[in-house]
Amino acid sequence: MKRHELVEKNIGLMIVLIVVAISFGGLTQIVPLFFQDETTQPVEGLRPYTAVELEGRDIYIREGCVSCHSQMIRPFRSETERYGHYSVAGESVWEHPFLWGSKRTGPDLARVGERYSDDWHRAHLINPRDVVPESKMPAYPWLQENVLDGKYTARKMEVMRKLGVPYTDEDIAGAREAVRGVSEIDALIAYLQHLGTVISDRR
Ligand code: HEC
Repeated sequence: MKRHELVEKNIGLMIVLIVVAISFGGLTQIVPLFFQDETTQPVEGLRPYTAVELEGRDIYIREGCVSCHSQMIRPFRSETERYGHYSVAGESVWEHPFLWGSKRTGPDLARVGERYSDDWHRAHLINPRDVVPESKMPAYPWLQENVLDGKYTARKMEVMRKLGVPYTDEDIAGAREAVRGVSEIDALIAYLQHLGTVISDRR
């Protein structure tokens, strides 16, 4: 009885005990994930983004595509019927930062790769209404005019390597050449076309 009173009347102690209780609950759920291969190992066949795809990904981030598009297919029938195999952790182990998103003004893009032709994407990005008349996605016409110089590509890849992405010295050495002269729209399309293609059970 006395001890219970002590906890109830001492708000500081109560806070400490609440934190301990909640942390314990959280840790038992989270810590095991650090040691499960399923969440830490790349899925079979996963490869790092090419230099051009990596630049395309940065354009995706810059243009805020993630604010309208998620990249996370949940394991529900309504989602897998529409988008394909649900997303698995092993596909995201080299994503820095991850772009799972939380808003779907447009469709999920986790498996959009290879679903449309490059030409479809080009037309769609320049003016979505040319291919999807009812679309309310913004147009990105400047992407076809801006050309990449690849100045920072190698450094970006070095940073990725520090974070655990297995880029080779060769990949990094050739990055600038690979990217220089590529238009932003082509880099973005290269990125989109690779999305979610490692796991494919396309019907
Ligand atoms: C204001 C919200 C919004 C933003 C920002 C946005 N989109 Fe969209 N997007 C949509 C909507 C809505 C659709 C569905 C209609 C259509 O296909 O145009 C769509 C469709 C798409 C599709 C076709 C998906 C499919 O499965 O049919 C792709 C690919 C796409 N967007 C890529 C992008 C990229 C890349 C960017 C950033 C450059 C971007 N979107 C920015 C709203 C947005």
